[in-house]
Amino acid sequence: MTRPVIALLIVAGLVIAGCDKQKPADDSPAGSVVPANVATPVAEALMASAQALFKPIPAAAPALPGNDATPAKLDLGRMLFFDPRLSVSHAISCASCHNIGLGGTDTQPTSIGHQWERGGRNAPTVLNAVFNTAQFWDGRAADLQAQAGGPMVNPVEMASPEAHVTEQLKGIPGYHDVFAKAFAGEADPVTLINVEKAIAVFEAGLLTPDSPFDRYLKGDASALTAVQKQGLQLFINKGCAACHGGINVGGGMYAKFGVVASPDATIRPPGDKGRSVVTGMTGDDYIFKVPTLRNIALTAPYFHTGSVWDLRQAVEVMANAQLGTQLTAPEVDDITVFLDSLTGVQPEVSVPILPGGVTATPRPEP
Ligand code: HEC
Ligand code: HEC
Repeated sequence: MTRPVIALLIVAGLVIAGCDKQKPADDSPAGSVVPANVATPVAEALMASAQALFKPIPAAAPALPGNDATPAKLDLGRMLFFDPRLSVSHAISCASCHNIGLGGTDTQPTSIGHQWERGGRNAPTVLNAVFNTAQFWDGRAADLQAQAGGPMVNPVEMASPEAHVTEQLKGIPGYHDVFAKAFAGEADPVTLINVEKAIAVFEAGLLTPDSPFDRYLKGDASALTAVQKQGLQLFINKGCAACHGGINVGGGMYAKFGVVASPDATIRPPGDKGRSVVTGMTGDDYIFKVPTLRNIALTAPYFHTGSVWDLRQAVEVMANAQLGTQLTAPEVDDITVFLDSLTGVQPEVSVPILPGGVTATPRPEP
């Protein structure tokens, strides 16, 4: 077991021990403790502990180091995100698996890629992904720019040989000017790195601010319903927030999937060992990035296997596997209703007009 996990267990233990002593609100009958609007000391304490654990999603994209978000680069990034010609078949774009109208995901348990092949994992959302400390379920890419090159060349995703991406784009004359504007002053701007930079800048703007939970964090006590507040209280007291914290309600650390009890093999199959493949350390077996719970109501199915369709069931699995806790049905309901409050205003992205090919443009391959 790695140090962060041990530290985390201590934190989770403290949270749980703390709630035994303090007789938390969740022991009381539903609705009686945290009224929607009244500023009681209990209500104020809940808001204060939430504000200490989480941060609201900002309206504006954060700056990426060494990759400024000029309007020209943003336009190019949006074009590339939607352009299926980055795939060797010309049939699959980033948006195929990260549909911005579907919470940034694809509704599949595991994604369908090149030649209808299924990849091994569920597609995580790209919305708010800029705030994750690393990308992919196992954190193998440090940031959005490092991530963006992966799918283009992945044989079961877009399947483009590396040189093909730039050859393809150079073969579409209308892209020349767009790249030249986005990367002004570069002699040969159509490079894989620039493709990755432009996509990263576009993705950094895919934010979902202003969810009920964000409005609550900014001080609007009426933004959550009484039941959502009970769910939030449980989410904190039971120990969920020890892993799912910060701006993305997750995305900030790694943890073993199955800290206390191993989930069954359909949910956590023995073959996918997660982070240990990246670090080469067997102590990291079954460690995954703690995923964001932002917009979680929109992004079924759940877990890296996409094996659970019902959010209530995902909450139960988590309580058992991560905390060794059996939640009551009303507790599961309350937490699930709280999770609904994490759905923010979805980004509205207009579909870009893409430059057409010419006779000499490389053609789709089967
Ligand atoms: C065939 C489906 C598919 C395509 C096409 C695809 N992705 Fe993904 N994407 C996935 C899957 C599956 C994962 C998770 C893989 C893993 O963790 O091992 C993922 C992970 C990601 C992540 C990490 C999110 C996180 O929270 O860890 C980002 C960002 C992302 N993709 C962006 C892109 C971009 C940009 C493109 C286009 C260049 C793209 N994807 C194309 C399926 C796809
Ligand atoms: C010890 C850390 C830890 C604790 C505590 C924890 N989680 Fe998780 N959570 C994870 C990890 C890691 C995953 C990813 C599991 C996987 O699919 O590999 C996850 C996944 C999830 C998912 C699925 C997300 C998705 O996009 O598929 C939900 C929902 C969730 N957790 C909710 C909760 C709730 C509710 C609690 C409290 C009852 C909780 N978690 C407690 C670490 C934790």
